[in-house]
Amino acid sequence: MPSYNKRTHYAGTLREEGISQQVTLNGWVNGRRDLGGLIFIDVRDYTGIAQVVFSPQVAPELMDLASELRDEFVVSVTGEVRRRERPNDEMPTGQIEIYASDLRILNRSEVPPFEIGDRSKSSEELRLKYRYLELRNPELQELLRLRNQVYQVVHNYYNENGFLEVETPLLIRSTPEGARDYIVPSRVHPGQFYALPQSPQIYKQILMIAGYDRYVQIAKCMRDEDLRADRQPEFTQIDLEMSFVEQEDVLQMTEGLVARLWKEVKGVDIKLPLPRMPYREAMGRFGSDKPDTRFGLELQDVGDLFGETEFGVFSGTLGSGGLISGLNFKGGAGYSRKLIDELTEHVKRYGAKGLVWLKVTAEGLEGGSAKFLNDNEVNGLLQRFEAEEGDMLLIVADEPYTCQKSLGALRLEIARREDLIPESDDMLFVVDFPMFEEIDAETGKPVPAHHPFTSYRAEDETMLDSEPMKVRANAYDLVINGYECAGGSIRIHDQGIQGRIFDLIGLTKEEAREKFGFLLDALQYGAPPHGGIAFGLDRLVMILGGTDNIRDVIAFPKTTRASSLMDNAPSHVDARQLTELGIGILERVKE
Ligand code: AMO
Repeated sequence: MPSYNKRTHYAGTLREEGISQQVTLNGWVNGRRDLGGLIFIDVRDYTGIAQVVFSPQVAPELMDLASELRDEFVVSVTGEVRRRERPNDEMPTGQIEIYASDLRILNRSEVPPFEIGDRSKSSEELRLKYRYLELRNPELQELLRLRNQVYQVVHNYYNENGFLEVETPLLIRSTPEGARDYIVPSRVHPGQFYALPQSPQIYKQILMIAGYDRYVQIAKCMRDEDLRADRQPEFTQIDLEMSFVEQEDVLQMTEGLVARLWKEVKGVDIKLPLPRMPYREAMGRFGSDKPDTRFGLELQDVGDLFGETEFGVFSGTLGSGGLISGLNFKGGAGYSRKLIDELTEHVKRYGAKGLVWLKVTAEGLEGGSAKFLNDNEVNGLLQRFEAEEGDMLLIVADEPYTCQKSLGALRLEIARREDLIPESDDMLFVVDFPMFEEIDAETGKPVPAHHPFTSYRAEDETMLDSEPMKVRANAYDLVINGYECAGGSIRIHDQGIQGRIFDLIGLTKEEAREKFGFLLDALQYGAPPHGGIAFGLDRLVMILGGTDNIRDVIAFPKTTRASSLMDNAPSHVDARQLTELGIGILERVKE
């Protein structure tokens, strides 16, 4: 028998129907108020909060003990549910309160270093240090509950669709996702290291070769890369792979999950199929391969208006194969010089050399560069942008990628400043990504844009050697509200083609063998056509939960400097451990 009364009800579930019942709550004290001889506390548990009253009329013997109660004490309270004299309509349990007839203090607590109910009042650093306290906050509990709901939907959906859940190892040989590996020294093989997986990529391909047809896993991935608000060094993927499929099969399976999640978690119907937008269109219209299409401010190529221009910046750009593109900031003519300078700084951060701004007035265009434009060019711009008095045209002339990327960033910046982004969710697939990112200046070889098992569009094969930058990959991303939420591809399943791609990107036979030999070997033994995709589960939960901080949806996250403030990882290890592993720390690192 426990020394206290066991819970009969969860605090957050009590309603008017329970009036006059005897109940026992087990939970934490969430604030105490003494009023007119009565003591009020809120008792909080995993489901919410209920108000408890200690009254000298009901239980005079409890008053001394009740006055000892402080925030975060752990209690067991028994009493009768009564209708509140002053109901609180803001609280789910606001119609009732419990008149205590028994109280046990099961544990006491130090004064918490911050107010648990209000996260905004303390620094994130402090909250991460005391994560066990922050995790008591109802917002975080709600997000972790939502995350749990996502797990359940994922397991059910893929199970219904014939997928097999398989766990893949954490101590592996390096995977080819392109970030830096976290490595783990081997004691048994001194001087040798495992890598932690950047994704289960190779294993899931091997499972297809092994005939498992459809694989899925909620998998931890580790990447040593620069962190941002939507990136963590260890994060979770919903990782899947399918055999005998083409791109469209994977996309349909993927959008099916998205629709199911939105329906079950948010009660929202998503119209399928989702749009499929080619990469070139996404870059051309939105200046991004993960376009937020919930608002306008679309980019327009205006290069054709300036074939004969006298404006040196524009003619120079066109002469060197660059792009002139811009957007119409509707009603933006009211922006001061200072604000325009801020926008200019913003595009410069993305590599643009400058920003041409032209305010639309009754007389035409006004702005630093307006004097270089002739009437034809002015009229051409006004028409192209459907510009009206009071608008401001913002134009970047630069090397194509820089031009589009900086304008894409500018578009988002203006939308944020002007509050143009609606709350609704918007999703699409970006398809037809280029196979290669750039030509390496040193080696002259194309650098793959994805992992090197990504296949290319059959009709682009003839350009592999002559114009590799024009070759499109069978690669796709799912984009939701401007976040890259999933990415995948149809793989190369032919050993000869895989060899050719390794060759093209400058990986020698020996290097390829050293890195991926076992996959190359496996490709020799009857590899089926296959492809897959991986969702960033944390990002999905972020979006479903309406937060823009990835740390809010991970129980024990790392800071942007990749440390865990609660347990102080990473940390030094003792010299004996290092010696056993055959590892020495360089003097310069020690300092
Ligand atoms: P990719 O590298 O595109 O593909 O990753 C898939 C998805 O994982 C999420 N993601 C991250 N989330 C949080 N923090 C990070 N550091 C992070 N990095 C990536 C993104 C991304 O879309 N093996 C391939 C998949 C495949 O080809 O099937 C892969 O890992 O939402």
